[in-house]
Amino acid sequence: MRIWTGPPGGYCWTMMQARILCRTQAQIQTQIQAHLIGIKDRRQAAMNNPDMFSFDSLKARGLFDKRLPRYTSYPPAPAFTDQIGAQFQAEALAALDPDAPISVYLHIPFCERLCWFCACRTQGVRSIAPVLHYLDTLEAELALIAQHIPARLKVRQMHWGGGTPTILPPELIARLSRALQRVFVIDADTEFSVEIDPTLVDAAKVAALKAAGMTRASIGVQDFAAHVQACIGRLQSYAQTRDAVLMLREAGIKSLNVDLVYGLPFQSLSGFADTLEQVNALAPDRVALFGYAHVPHMAKRQKLIPEAALPDDRARFALFDKATEVFTQAGMMPIGIDHFAHPDDSMAVAAAAGKLRRNFQGYTVDGCETLLGLGASSISRFADGFVQNSSETGSYTRHIREGGLAGARGYHLSAQDRLRGRIIEMLMCDNAIDFAELNLSPAQRQLLAPALQALRTECRGMIQETPSRLTLDPQVRPILRRLAHFFDTFCVENVGYSRVS
Ligand SMILES: C[S@@+](CC[C@H](N)C(=O)[O-])C[C@H]1O[C@@H](n2cnc3c(N)ncnc32)[C@H](O)[C@@H]1O
Ligand code: SF4
Repeated sequence: MRIWTGPPGGYCWTMMQARILCRTQAQIQTQIQAHLIGIKDRRQAAMNNPDMFSFDSLKARGLFDKRLPRYTSYPPAPAFTDQIGAQFQAEALAALDPDAPISVYLHIPFCERLCWFCACRTQGVRSIAPVLHYLDTLEAELALIAQHIPARLKVRQMHWGGGTPTILPPELIARLSRALQRVFVIDADTEFSVEIDPTLVDAAKVAALKAAGMTRASIGVQDFAAHVQACIGRLQSYAQTRDAVLMLREAGIKSLNVDLVYGLPFQSLSGFADTLEQVNALAPDRVALFGYAHVPHMAKRQKLIPEAALPDDRARFALFDKATEVFTQAGMMPIGIDHFAHPDDSMAVAAAAGKLRRNFQGYTVDGCETLLGLGASSISRFADGFVQNSSETGSYTRHIREGGLAGARGYHLSAQDRLRGRIIEMLMCDNAIDFAELNLSPAQRQLLAPALQALRTECRGMIQETPSRLTLDPQVRPILRRLAHFFDTFCVENVGYSRVS
């Protein structure tokens, strides 16, 4: 069970009780058992292969020199071309099954502050005028999409990301929610998550989001150490963050995620350990722990980051290890390559049941085939492929204002892409390949033989294999992207991708 490290006082204790009460006894038992089996497996595997996943062993195998995709899609977005765009998008929208629920991603590409470390597609604004203008365009895009899709599609999952969705004042949150409601069925069953900047949120915005149906909040923290924050151009006190968390909990938001980043300038093991304890005190249900992606050729503001102060490979590895230790001791389960979740959180439940999925936001419990992306740069996923809206807000706006869909780049999936994509997703989510689900033909077995052989060689001694399933030991976690890469026929290692570890 969880070690409670929170501050004294009743509030957080009440949250923990509430979380426990939400679960049935049987669910608790199943989750704890799965967790304990995972820990036992890890211990056993570590005894079998003491050095295999030490820093030195991974370094000797060149892991830290790799720049590989995070496989939030297959093929990764850099493989999209401008041959696929609005026409493909229109046909895919028209072909949607009226009875199949969908997911929606909505992008708000604005921030009041522009943090230097951030690689997200966003722009700084000093007034509300560009945001209002963008909202008009989003409404026009929704009206256009409504002309293509079956009426009243049910939304099972919705995510507002950015940028900073909480830049919207309460009246614009309500207006956007009404515009979405006009086109889709969004109801009490819809899981609705929002990215929240704790320095740009207040009770009125939280109330408006709750009224719009928000069920999960994702809070950006990164690191609480003041000297780290100063070097990444993002000042945010613990008190400010705690107040935002309390506001969300008091509004009845049951599921909270915290984003952290390791590998930031001047991050030290002891300083990061303090941040981890402070995060535990906030009692999040999930934590996303991203490795800092330093890509100043793409995100120009990162040129303000003092490169000499970035932790080296060994230090990054130790930071990730420290977080794993602290969060697992606090009762969280490691999920995929970069998440942790309490056993009763829907992500941990989905992971334990082999139902975890991967999409452009990272890990998700969303099993919908269709993901509709709204707004500049957002990506839609259809049965037949992907379409990305124009990335620049200006050209996205022009397309929509001229009455056309904004799809500008994309990819039409072949049967082989789908097969490889599903295997990559299985590896990234489940540490496994489920041959029973894939039901490979002899030709497909032959096609995949080199990749499977490479996987077996890389993970010798760390695989259990039966005719129906190949399962990898849990400590292959640091090399999952590398293992997934064996099945990728698109990507050459590329400086445009982030580091593997
Ligand atoms: C859209 S942003 C943050 C949402 C919100 N605007 C905020 O600042 O709290 C989502 C997350 O992406 C992660 N992120 C952004 N840039 C990154 C980078 N260069 N490397 C790793 N993670 C990054 C951060 O953890 C961030 O919280
Ligand atoms: S971290 Fe959030 S607030 Fe900072 S620039 Fe990125 S999206 Fe904007």
